[in-house]
Amino acid sequence: MLKTMLKIDTRFIHKDIRKRADDLLSPACNAFSELVAKTCRGREWTGFWNYPQQQGYEVNKGIDSYISTIPHAYDAVVLLGIGGSLQGVQAVHDALRKTRLRLLFAGYHLSAGMTNAVLEQLEQCQPLLVVVSKSGETLETAVAFRVFRNYLEQRYRKHEACQRTIVVTDPDSGSLRAFSNANNCQAFSIPADVGGRYSVLTAVGLVPLALAGYDTTMLLQGADAFYTQMINTDNPAVIYAATRNAAYQADKHVEVLSYCDPHLRSLAAWWQQLFGESEGKDGKGILPTTMALTSDLHALGQYLQDGRRNMLETFLVVEDMQSASTQVPTDPLPAVGQRQDYLANKTMQELNAIAINSTRLAHHDGGVPNMSIILSRLDAYGLGYLFAFWQTACAISGALLGVNPFDQDGVENYKRNMLALAGKSGLESEAEKLRSRLQ
Ligand code: PA5
Repeated sequence: MLKTMLKIDTRFIHKDIRKRADDLLSPACNAFSELVAKTCRGREWTGFWNYPQQQGYEVNKGIDSYISTIPHAYDAVVLLGIGGSLQGVQAVHDALRKTRLRLLFAGYHLSAGMTNAVLEQLEQCQPLLVVVSKSGETLETAVAFRVFRNYLEQRYRKHEACQRTIVVTDPDSGSLRAFSNANNCQAFSIPADVGGRYSVLTAVGLVPLALAGYDTTMLLQGADAFYTQMINTDNPAVIYAATRNAAYQADKHVEVLSYCDPHLRSLAAWWQQLFGESEGKDGKGILPTTMALTSDLHALGQYLQDGRRNMLETFLVVEDMQSASTQVPTDPLPAVGQRQDYLANKTMQELNAIAINSTRLAHHDGGVPNMSIILSRLDAYGLGYLFAFWQTACAISGALLGVNPFDQDGVENYKRNMLALAGKSGLESEAEKLRSRLQ
């Protein structure tokens, strides 16, 4: 079972790229060894590798025992965060859709409308607030934290508001850590050696997912299985990293992740953030973008088939979506039935598989090399495996590209401008310069 949890199919990669990919396998294996040995560039950020065994299971136990002591009834969790502090949880929630309570998201935008919509939903609920920020300083999350803390304090008074607030942040520094210390709120730590987009399997993901009732042990076990197996077997992360770098060398500067079911939209967004923020630097990197099957075939499909040939396509295929089978009935209208008889009695799953295979062939023939990542089943275990696979592949791929896949200095530029324009003290002269450019 474990060996086939994830496979890579590269049959529809064009020959020249496959040849380059073969040449890159050895450097990719070296990059993988350096990651495992923690001798790679950015080694101080490699704590995600093998995290379940290093700390994850223990942290998970601590979270479970905290949950059993929460002193108030609750039927909703509001998660505040952005980027790596949020997207992994959205990915799991969107993919599995089985919570024992309402899981709501805020703090990842500056939309008053969306914030108010969440606040309105809380009127019918007894909420807990989980705020996740490694730095503790991110503006979007800080704004939402003030709004939702204010709401809790007005509704429950200060003491209970604190008991309904859970902080996930840096072990020692930042405003959120200071807040939790000063107010005696429950706090969990994000390991210092794990960066935001590599942190879904730490307290960042485990706390909100466990509160919502997801099987976080299975999530960790899936990742653990990947780490354990990869030491000894053919490594799909090496193959994926080598193939996408080979495509990049052949001037395929865009990677489209075409996912097989709309429930994978947030997972695709998580992948996009992981690769975009890890590789887009020093004037290099593949632009990661996503396409939902089959809806986007009626939006982007034309471009994929016939537009500029600068793309690599990766299909994310799940063999067992764990959803009930739905059969197409015989058409009750004879006139339509005559034309569409071939559909009768097929399942939607079968038709979706046919659509994916048809697309793979058509796009290959149209000049877009494509590979498929085939995950055997979509459950917490499978997702844990997939997270570990992609994080490992990203670290290897960044090394092949010649960048540090763990930093994100570029994100700081807009943040600094925003802090200056919002009036943060110490940035007054910067703010003045920015304002004069905007006039
Ligand atoms: O991957 C990253 O490091 C980023 O996407 C961060 O997760 C994101 O910017 C949020 O940062 P923080 O957790 O400090 O609020």
